[in-house]
Amino acid sequence: MKKKIIINNLQELEDFANKVVKCLKGDELLLLEGNLAAGKTTFTKYIAKNFGIDDYEVVSPTFNIMNIYEGRQFDIYHIDLYRVDDFDITDFIGKGLIIIEWPKEDYTKYTKNQIKFSFNVLDNERREITIETDLDIEDCLNM
Ligand SMILES: Nc1ncnc2c1ncn2[C@@H]1O[C@H](COP(=O)(O)OP(=O)(O)O)[C@@H](O)[C@H]1O
Ligand SMILES: [Mg+2]
Repeated sequence: MKKKIIINNLQELEDFANKVVKCLKGDELLLLEGNLAAGKTTFTKYIAKNFGIDDYEVVSPTFNIMNIYEGRQFDIYHIDLYRVDDFDITDFIGKGLIIIEWPKEDYTKYTKNQIKFSFNVLDNERREITIETDLDIEDCLNM
């Protein structure tokens, strides 16, 4: 599926993240694309919040590449490849939820369980998000 959603403010982004979480098993790869300040880290905070992770824990891993958060059901591997060209994720595939900001390669060779979210800034508060996935989550997302 490929769908677009308009997000008007932070509350709507949180509502959307809560909806996405309901469609996850915990072994997926979420690819977050979009310019600086588009909302990739904020979206990650809202996803992580659903698994009992405090939002102050979720910080941009730009300098250390990866943060690991211990969630209620599984770990979350939060990776930021803004300054990195290749980073081996094979050790974490299937071990938890992997969230990559600035994805750099074709990850389908590692796993087909991928959802790509492309953030497009419309104005200060509004975002357009394009969701692309081969996973069967269209009914679950109900959009
Ligand atoms: N609807 C929205 N969705 C996402 N971020 C928003 C929205 N409205 C305002 N913002 C603000 O935009 C900024 C997004 O920053 P961040 O999530 O760090 O972006 P990125 O990780 O893509 O660089 C935050 O300061 C956030 O509060
Ligand atoms: Mg970020």
